[in-house]
Amino acid sequence: MDFTRKLSFLVFLLCVLISLKNQNAETNRKGSFQNADYSQEDPPSILGDILIDRKLQENDIDHPPNEWLRYDYYNESCPFAEQIIRSIVRELYELRPDVAPALLRLSFHDCFVEGCDASVLLDATDVMESEKDSPPNESLKGFDVIDIIKSELEESCPGVVSCADIIVLAARESVLLAGGPFYPLYTGRKDSMVSFFEEATYELPSPQDDLSKTIESFATRGFDERETVSLLGAHSAGTIHCKFFHNRLYNFSGTDGPDPSLDTEFLELLRSTCNQSHAMPASSPSPSPSSSSSPSPSSALHILTNTTLFQDPGMKMDYEGPRKGFGILYYRSLLQGKGLLFVDQQMTSGEETETWVRAYASDGTLFQRDFGLTMIKLSDLGVLTSPMGQVRLSCRKVN
Ligand code: HEM
Repeated sequence: MDFTRKLSFLVFLLCVLISLKNQNAETNRKGSFQNADYSQEDPPSILGDILIDRKLQENDIDHPPNEWLRYDYYNESCPFAEQIIRSIVRELYELRPDVAPALLRLSFHDCFVEGCDASVLLDATDVMESEKDSPPNESLKGFDVIDIIKSELEESCPGVVSCADIIVLAARESVLLAGGPFYPLYTGRKDSMVSFFEEATYELPSPQDDLSKTIESFATRGFDERETVSLLGAHSAGTIHCKFFHNRLYNFSGTDGPDPSLDTEFLELLRSTCNQSHAMPASSPSPSPSSSSSPSPSSALHILTNTTLFQDPGMKMDYEGPRKGFGILYYRSLLQGKGLLFVDQQMTSGEETETWVRAYASDGTLFQRDFGLTMIKLSDLGVLTSPMGQVRLSCRKVN
């Protein structure tokens, strides 16, 4: 390792430690959980220290996954890139807090399918289908937000900042806004020149998947059970529409009854909330996410409002409001049989996964650490770097 790389690793490590330290303070200020007898403070945990030690020993974050990625890659070519992304996401979040979960989910759907290469942003063409149009991406949002960020960056430093980096950096900002940890990210990803419609259709996990299928799907991308459980903590923010758990309320697994793992009172709440929605068609008339328009904050708000599920009320996942108890409330709800998606509730059905659900439900600091580290890993999945890929001038089409 030469001097520059050593130095950048030290800066990187310092950032991790500072952010985790700040986050501990934040987590310890958190309030109690509704309807549950939990203490205001997180219990002290040795698991967190073990986790940090283990991760550092494994060198998960001490070197980039690829020699072309660097910490602060745009330092010279576009020094304000990360600041521009941060301020636009924050500005839009002030107007519409649902920008944050939308961007976080977008990064998962990009990275999980053939890596973090912005392939999810490409519009369909005469010769190529778009990932956006695949069924699992039906309710994906945030495309216009990325357009706004990209056009701002193109004005400041044309042709420099990739859409793939924008996605992961915007997701990092979103995690922070939603009450999660800050985590350092390497940059220098390049953009894909193809979109993977088939892979998105068949490889993105389904909300109806059982535990073994979910574990397998994450394992093929290098995530162990603990990491999988921690990533699902992202379901602490945003909205899950009724259509994704409706079968659990009335006709679970071919029966005439509800999912027996659902808490009874919670079942009634879900039924009354979703009452209006179950008769509605799977998709309603709305602008296609593929349709391009000149980017502006108002168009971003428009697309976030008009999804194909706009008549479906859904359930908010941040039970006590934005930024409250990110992670910890989600795991506590699973322990109470109040997981919204079958796939979420399944995390309590395996011995190891349940251990981690319990650990995260009682130790917010541990969760924040784990989640930050796993988001770094997710953001580094299958990245494209020179000479592969390109920096797209518009995130919606290949140059
Ligand atoms: C087994 C894996 C997963 C499945 C099956 C799954 C499925 C879903 C479904 C069905 C929704 C509801 C979408 C809607 O109602 O419009 C959703 C929402 C969401 N998912 Fe996941 N998800 C998984 C993992 C993840 C991961 C790993 C992340 C991020 C790291 C994530 C982030 C989110 C966020 C933030 C939302 C809320 C989106 C919004 O409100 O706009 N999910 N997910």
